[in-house]
Amino acid sequence: MADGESIESLLHEGRLFPPPDAVRAGAEVRSLDQWREVHARSLADPEGYWAEEAGRLEWFRTWDRVLEWAPPDARWFAGATTNLCHNCVDRHAAGPRADAAAILWEGEPIGPDGPEVRRVSFADLRRETARLGAVLKSLGVRKGDIVTIYMPMVPELAIAMLACARIGAAHSVIFGGFSASAIADRVADAGSRVILTADGGWRRGKIVPLKENVDAACVTLAGAGVRVEHVVVLERCGNPVAWHHAPEASHGDKRDHWWHDLMRAAPDDGACEPMDSEALLFVLYTSGSTGKPKGILHTTGGYMTHVATTARVVFDLDAARGDVFWCTADCGWVTGHSYVVYGALCNGVTTVMYEGAPDAPTPGRFWEIVERHGVTQFYTAPTAIRAFMKWGEEHPRKSDLRSLRVLGTVGEPINPEAWMWYHRAIGAERCPIVDTWWQTETGGHMITPLPGATPTKPGSCTLPFFGVDAAIVNEQGREMPANQGGLLAIRRPWPGMLRGVLNDRERFVQTYWSRIKGPDGEPYYFAGDGARRDEDGYFWIMGRVDDVINVSGHRLGTMEVESALVSHPAVAEAAVVSMPHEIKGAGIAAFVTLREGAGVSADEALRETLRSHVVKEIGAIARPDVVRFTKSLPKTRSGKIMRRLLRAIAEGREHVGDTTTLEDYAVLAKLRESDEG
Ligand code: PRX
Repeated sequence: MADGESIESLLHEGRLFPPPDAVRAGAEVRSLDQWREVHARSLADPEGYWAEEAGRLEWFRTWDRVLEWAPPDARWFAGATTNLCHNCVDRHAAGPRADAAAILWEGEPIGPDGPEVRRVSFADLRRETARLGAVLKSLGVRKGDIVTIYMPMVPELAIAMLACARIGAAHSVIFGGFSASAIADRVADAGSRVILTADGGWRRGKIVPLKENVDAACVTLAGAGVRVEHVVVLERCGNPVAWHHAPEASHGDKRDHWWHDLMRAAPDDGACEPMDSEALLFVLYTSGSTGKPKGILHTTGGYMTHVATTARVVFDLDAARGDVFWCTADCGWVTGHSYVVYGALCNGVTTVMYEGAPDAPTPGRFWEIVERHGVTQFYTAPTAIRAFMKWGEEHPRKSDLRSLRVLGTVGEPINPEAWMWYHRAIGAERCPIVDTWWQTETGGHMITPLPGATPTKPGSCTLPFFGVDAAIVNEQGREMPANQGGLLAIRRPWPGMLRGVLNDRERFVQTYWSRIKGPDGEPYYFAGDGARRDEDGYFWIMGRVDDVINVSGHRLGTMEVESALVSHPAVAEAAVVSMPHEIKGAGIAAFVTLREGAGVSADEALRETLRSHVVKEIGAIARPDVVRFTKSLPKTRSGKIMRRLLRAIAEGREHVGDTTTLEDYAVLAKLRESDEG
């Protein structure tokens, strides 16, 4: 059984999945030849390509120059003015899409009449963003200020982001799962004086006490001499909250305000502020493998053009066809910014938002949502797909998934086993999978299949998007031959690129622009990922360079060893890290979770089976020295495995560094106790 499956999985890896005819027929790019032609043209003249795309959007004043590039500083659409809220909301509210659904939302709890569902039209969004914009102004928010948003996945979260964009304030969205100390750090760094939050949000049947966390953060901030003037609280769960008054605050005598009180009195006729193309749109904090989180800066015109274009082309979005797009990411991540909110709405397409957990109340919840709302494009993370696999195929089978046309993944390399499962169990072998490689820093998709054009290979993010000059290079900036691993670099600027790290110019330059240089000394963007290109030019991401394991002088990407482990039928998920080894310098420690109902016991025999399995799949060099069974793996809130913590455990170190992004603290404790072998 095990042997049969693994041989099959190797065959799959070499397999090519052509775009299905049904998708190809309606897509904007319909063949690999067409992709080649447009890609070549876009690289011969990137500015021409992006200007043409920008021309599909509305600008209040057109640009003087498409790009000003003084490495590492880019100005896209210099001299132009526009407004992202206008492009996402007002221009659709003024046309035939006014009454179409902009947001379809579902709350987590399921009552006797089913879940709470809300439908927000483009006209509703225009009114609500205008009102909230007026509220923010009345609280003293001015152009360029940074408003912190710490909310559950409810429509008001999207409204908050759009309202900031509308009045020219920048937003800093903090994921609702973060702790008070994470909020305090970010609010202090951003200098926010206004925080938008809610009493609570639903997650796996429990209320996450958002307001309470904000209160605790404000206490910490006050201790550090930072004063938050206003906290606006949406009533979502009705849980009791403490109420604070700050006599010195500028708005009456209050610090805390109910959202509905302020909205009631607010005018709804405020127009969108014309913003310079390079005006700050948002700050989003992202953690590196070490050190404090970086506030990644994104600006207006280039980011808008990048996300609008990629959302349309990569997901094959079409408002006229009535597409219903669902990206399962929380708005606290870049994926939520770029595709739940801005990318879908910029194209006038309905976006689905869901408040809660994928297994609340049952592991079939996502598929019920797909059926209920007729979702046409579904975008999620490999970690979620592996969870669905673990829960079993019977759950998606209970729902009618025939509305689905395109599937997507993002966030980490997808192992071929999970890809095949997604393709079969969710896509019924008729939906192309777009495995999109990008980062918080890139703003939008960079390397990705196009659903009607690119033949896909399970586990590969395939080919660069138009206008994107991606390459695999060595430390000297020279391009690597096919199938040799190297550093993933972007050799030319692109419109959605980060414009800096808030309050830390040095870190911006050092982290991204100092490591690799081209033949004429021009800096390349260093993504921090190791990757290779195969003989067809397809990209295969091998994992973060920081995670590379060096065994007896051979550098191994974590991804390949993990894929080998997961291709064994007993394994649900695996993470491998380097550990000290007397002889080899570094050895490999594998942390493994087993599939539910696989009927195996976590014993020495299974450990040996898994070691041999890896040897068979990759070679003796990759044989794990230690295999540990564990119930779960430590993950960031966005689902990335925290290999840094696993390394600390594998090395027997006690202090594991910053854990503010850890999904489940309890996992750490369990891992320490995990059954070692
Ligand atoms: O290592 C790559 C991985 O996620 C990193 C970016 O993480 P973040 O900024 O949190 O953004 C995630 C959502 C865009 C990358 O450096 N990554 C992201 N997408 C993929 C991926 N690795 C492999 N394949 C992908 N499709």
